[in-house]
Amino acid sequence: MLEIKNLEISFFDGKKQIRRTDSVSFEVREGEILALVGESGCGKSITALSIPGLLARNGRVTGGEILYRGRDLLKLSEKELDAVRGREIAMIFQDIMYSLNPVFTIGNQMIEGMRKHLGYSKAQAREEAIRLLERVGIRESERVMKSYPHMLSGGMRQRVMIAMALSCKPRMLIADEPTTALDVTIQLQIMQLLRSLRDEYGMSILLITHDIALVTEMADRVVVMYAGQCVEQADTERLLKAPAHPYTRALLAAIPDIKHDKSRRLYSIRGAVPENYQDMTGCRFAPRCELADSCTKCGGWHTLPDGRRVRCDLAGQEG
Ligand SMILES: Nc1ncnc2c1ncn2[C@@H]1O[C@H](COP(=O)(O)OP(=O)(O)OP(=O)(O)O)[C@@H](O)[C@H]1O
Ligand SMILES: [Mg+2]
Repeated sequence: MLEIKNLEISFFDGKKQIRRTDSVSFEVREGEILALVGESGCGKSITALSIPGLLARNGRVTGGEILYRGRDLLKLSEKELDAVRGREIAMIFQDIMYSLNPVFTIGNQMIEGMRKHLGYSKAQAREEAIRLLERVGIRESERVMKSYPHMLSGGMRQRVMIAMALSCKPRMLIADEPTTALDVTIQLQIMQLLRSLRDEYGMSILLITHDIALVTEMADRVVVMYAGQCVEQADTERLLKAPAHPYTRALLAAIPDIKHDKSRRLYSIRGAVPENYQDMTGCRFAPRCELADSCTKCGGWHTLPDGRRVRCDLAGQEG
């Protein structure tokens, strides 16, 4: 469905170029839920934003390909991309205010999208909008339809945004921390909704999250990112049982017991993601890695006997 190849994203400050991701490669298969995990600042959101061409103005894809059903999205005109956005690929943003237009009511925005992309009549779109708002746990859907974004609470806005993203029945959903602002009951309801849409329409989902419980419950496969690069990819079950990269191991070890850790958040590894990682050569995790002393620190890709790919020389040697 989606294949990202050697994606390099840079930001520009005048003439100065700062590379924030490089050699990011992964695929999202049809009907699959793929989780993208990694500490704050490792490049998850910018990777996600680059897919529908929504990077901030000072950012640009400076290398690689984004193939959506065989077509390189980076080569499409703005008009062609606009047709893909919303209808084919929808996005739930980490930053809520990004996606709701402050000058139109929620109802207006939802109805317009469905009329434009699905050719619905106004009445049809309205009915569908109400149904969707109810499915994301909004009881007063009539009132919400008449509201402007600023009139709603953060949790409500997040649910509206999810309903809006789903309204045009996209083939692919990119969900960046979709439920962080929501309480656990609503979160569960929304995750069930996403999963049932995946089952009903075969929608593919790229799920970005810090919540390991969500990964466990939702994802078929996991891609781990560190400092602007992918470091490991595996089936969820295999990754949780036997993480191969020391970084993945550290991420998982940082939650002592998933069942008893109420915050359910990943990570507290010593040190932090380096601020400026673009000029680092070899393994970028080496400065924080407990096993670095016995390693070449080259950070090359290795294929393990089970077919899994991991960017760690030690893991490669140990197989
Ligand atoms: N508009 C921008 N201009 C300059 N640098 C940016 C911009 N947006 C993101 N970056 C930088 O790119 C890097 C990756 O950011 P990104 O938002 O993708 O991280 P993330 O993995 O999503 O983190 P989090 O888990 O906190 O959401 C960071 O170093 C960030 O400072
Ligand atoms: Mg982010």
